[in-house]
Amino acid sequence: MTALLKVEDLKVAYGKIEAVKGISFEVNEGEIVCLVGTNGAGKTTTLRTLSGLLKPSGGSVTFDGNPLANVPAHKIVAMKLAHSPEGRHIFPRLTITENLQLGAFLRTDKEGIEKDIQRAYDLFPILGERRKQAAGTLSGGEQQMLAMGRALMCQPKLLMLDEPSMGLSPLMMQKIMATISELKATGTTILLVEQNAQAALSLADRAHVMEIGKIVLSGTGQELLHNEDVRKAYLGED
Ligand SMILES: Nc1ncnc2c1ncn2[C@@H]1O[C@H](COP(=O)(O)OP(=O)(O)OP(=O)(O)O)[C@@H](O)[C@H]1O
Ligand SMILES: [Mg+2]
Repeated sequence: MTALLKVEDLKVAYGKIEAVKGISFEVNEGEIVCLVGTNGAGKTTTLRTLSGLLKPSGGSVTFDGNPLANVPAHKIVAMKLAHSPEGRHIFPRLTITENLQLGAFLRTDKEGIEKDIQRAYDLFPILGERRKQAAGTLSGGEQQMLAMGRALMCQPKLLMLDEPSMGLSPLMMQKIMATISELKATGTTILLVEQNAQAALSLADRAHVMEIGKIVLSGTGQELLHNEDVRKAYLGED
C-alpha cells in the first residue's frame, strides 16, 4: 500500500533554531495517526509545514503521490489536505454559515457546497441552530466544531487537527473525540495532534511521540497507551 502522506526526514527551522529535526512518518488512507508530545515538541510546526505555511529546511513530503516541495498553501488545500489549526482561528464577526463557506473558497459547485454545509450541521447540530449568529458568540467547544466543520468543507483526503480538545470541558472533549471517530468511520483520514494523550491514543491506529523536534517512540495507539514511559510522561502516572 502506498501511503497517502509520506514525511521523510523533515526538518524545519525558525532562523537558526531547528524546531523539527528530521522526522519521518506515514499516514495511510483511512487511518487516524496521532502525534503526541509536550509543549514545544514541534507538533504545530510539523502541521504548518505540511500545509505549506512554513518552508522546510530539509527532507521531503509526498501527499497523494505528489511532492509538496514549493507548493503554495492554497494549492495544498486544492489537493484536499485540510488543516484545522491550533487556536481554531475562526472569523468571529462572520456568521457560522459564512465561516463554513470560507472553507469551500476554492470550490465552485454551489450545490455540493450547500450539501456539505448541511453535512456540517448534521455532524454538529448546534452549528445549524446558530447558523446566522456571529461565530465569535460560540463557546470554545462550539468554535472547535466550527473549525472542524470548516476544514471539512474542502472535502479533504486528509484532515489535520491541531489540539482539538484544547481548553474544553471533559464533556465537550468527549463529543469532539466521538466526532473524530465518526469521521474516521465515514472514511476520513486524520492526522491528529493532541496533548491529551489518553483520549488521542485511544482513537489512534498508530501514533508517534515527539520530543524536542524528534520522534522518540512509535507504535499502535494501544501500544503507546500501555507503554510505561508514555504513561509516566503523558498520563500522569509514576
Ligand atoms: N514563529 C516562531 N518563531 C520562533 N520559534 C518558534 C515559532 N513558533 C514555534 N517556535 C518554536 O519551535 C518549537 C516548536 O514549537 P511548536 O509550536 O511546533 O510546538 P508544539 O509541539 O506544537 O507545542 P504545543 O504543544 O505547546 O502547541 C518551540 O521551541 C517554539 O518555541
Ligand atoms: Mg502546538
